[in-house]
Amino acid sequence: MKILVTGGTGYIGSHTVVELQKKGFDVIIVDALFNSRINTLDGIEKITGIRPEFESFDLADQRLTDDFFARHNDIKGIIHFAAHKAVGESVEQPIKYYRNNLDSLMNILESMQKYNVPNLVFSSSCTVYGQPDAEHLPVSENAPIKKAESPYGNTKQIAEEIISETIAAFKGLNAIALRYFNPVGAHDSAIIGELPLGVPNNLMPYITQTGYGIRECLKVYGSDYPTPDGTAIRDYIHIMDLAKAHVIAVERMLNEKMKKPFEIFNLGTGTGYSVLEVIKSFEKVSGLKLNYEIVGRRAGDIEKVWADPTFSNNELGWKAERTLDEMTASAWKWEQAYRSL
Ligand code: UFG
Repeated sequence: MKILVTGGTGYIGSHTVVELQKKGFDVIIVDALFNSRINTLDGIEKITGIRPEFESFDLADQRLTDDFFARHNDIKGIIHFAAHKAVGESVEQPIKYYRNNLDSLMNILESMQKYNVPNLVFSSSCTVYGQPDAEHLPVSENAPIKKAESPYGNTKQIAEEIISETIAAFKGLNAIALRYFNPVGAHDSAIIGELPLGVPNNLMPYITQTGYGIRECLKVYGSDYPTPDGTAIRDYIHIMDLAKAHVIAVERMLNEKMKKPFEIFNLGTGTGYSVLEVIKSFEKVSGLKLNYEIVGRRAGDIEKVWADPTFSNNELGWKAERTLDEMTASAWKWEQAYRSL
């Protein structure tokens, strides 16, 4: 059974490829390597003993995408990770985000119809909820979709609409959108993990790089939020829990267990942690004292969000199992392993 993983050399993609291979799926990766490295394939092979098939081209190119599907008539499902994902950059370069994230999706949906590939799992984000009102916390899949805070967030909202309308118009196509909360951590082997190019935007890689001495000081953005310790709260989820949910989603489609042709699931733990709690966890598992300073809020940040994972737990038979300490410990192990290569 062959699955196409777009963005399969990226952070979430690579961990998902490992889980798919472990479950016996054949994987073909398409990745333009805009924000990932080719040697991730070596890491995957080292872990599973299987080197996935790989092609490098831009899925936003309609001709190349069509040509790919014309050459591969054995693909049974697609997990579409490939996308730009830096919130700040999307504010500065909106067209880059709309073109890449939406053109690639539309090209894939078109090819799915033309070449009879019925199943799509799409990477969505809790960013579609914006800052949920108090009565919608924890946030469930039925919470209102708020106006996106960034062009990146808007691409996720528009993408869900494009998928929904396409699925409604073409019988035989199915899709599952997975709304991720904050994925962190790395594979237990520390052979693959998150590899931000340049200065990290996200909290966990910034923490581990500061712990390792690559960054001097972590800036904690805001201590005046209406939260118990004043810092912002997120639902951090271990990357391996997230990867497993993708395999379950693919199996659900292939085994025709879907309740309707387009389903949406939250992928979170259901527990929120503040920035200071994440730092404390890192200090505990690493035995280090982290150098950090509290500064003003970061533009566009929401104050608190965490998932209601009840629907995913019940429908997918999936539950995020790993604790915050396991997340910070695996992220730290990966940082050290990668730097000592
Ligand atoms: N933070 C810091 N210092 C840093 C980096 C982050 O204090 O150097 C704080 C942020 O202000 C926020 C929290 O840590 O309160 C988490 O920030 P991240 O950048 O790690 O994650 P975000 O919640 O901002 O964004 C993530 C993904 C996005 C996605 C979004 C959905 O990076 O792609 O979740 O809410 F859209």
